[in-house]
Amino acid sequence: MTTAATGYIAKFKVWRGDTEGGALEDFEVEVNEGEVVLDIIHRLQATQAPDLAVRWNCKAGKCGSCSAEINGRPRLLCMTRMSVFTREETITVTPLRAFPIVRDLVTNVGFNYQKAREVPSFVPPQDLGPGEYRMMQEDVNRSQEFRKCIECFLCQDTCHVVRDHEDNKEAFAGPRFLMRVAELDMHPLDDAAEQGLDRKATAQEEHGLGYCNITKCCSEVCPEGIKITDNALIPLKERAVDRKYDPLVWLGNKIMRRGQDT
Ligand code: SF4
Ligand code: SF4
Ligand code: FES
Repeated sequence: MTTAATGYIAKFKVWRGDTEGGALEDFEVEVNEGEVVLDIIHRLQATQAPDLAVRWNCKAGKCGSCSAEINGRPRLLCMTRMSVFTREETITVTPLRAFPIVRDLVTNVGFNYQKAREVPSFVPPQDLGPGEYRMMQEDVNRSQEFRKCIECFLCQDTCHVVRDHEDNKEAFAGPRFLMRVAELDMHPLDDAAEQGLDRKATAQEEHGLGYCNITKCCSEVCPEGIKITDNALIPLKERAVDRKYDPLVWLGNKIMRRGQDT
């Protein structure tokens, strides 16, 4: 098994195919100390499979493009060290299961861009000019956690609501974009409500917040360690429920609506 003092030969199964179908292909490939799975995929391209398709850019865990599944778990190829596997095990690399195949390890993640477009962006406060925005540090920290997102879509891929249920995709934005709604809804300077946009209502009625049953699988695969469920989805659910069932909120909304009607 061992070939040299620094290297060994590993067994890989890599999914090859396109929109017409495909299968796992077996490879034996050299591995050297300190390498990550993306290095091995590149070595396969260089030595055995020059047409193997894989998407990547930074090789530093920051661009979010090398997402795939390794032994069935959504991961970044460039951040998965070969040392986490034993030398004997066969490592299986497959494309993200929740999105349509383009070729080999490359999927069409357009679903996510479509969902991104459906979330209205930050609404600047009308009574403050540039440079006049002030926020409490704890509000800044909350936003900053969510802003660490590298848009790798591993959370979207792992979420059971869409992973095996293609027909849920239309009604469900997925954890990454519900997190975006949560961030904006909790943003102290977002003026959406004053301008007639109820982000809590859209979370439930347009982005499918009710489909999420807080299993936390999304948080478990996030390479940035964002606590998607605890810090974004659960607070958003609580705020949305308060909005719906709090009698004072209900009364306030009713009075406001009456005021707008007159
Ligand atoms: S916590 Fe919600 S969004 Fe996250 S994986 Fe589970 S169901 Fe999906
Ligand atoms: S929240 Fe985490 S897992 Fe989801 S897209 Fe952003 S970085 Fe990736
Ligand atoms: S290549 Fe950029 S995150 Fe892996």
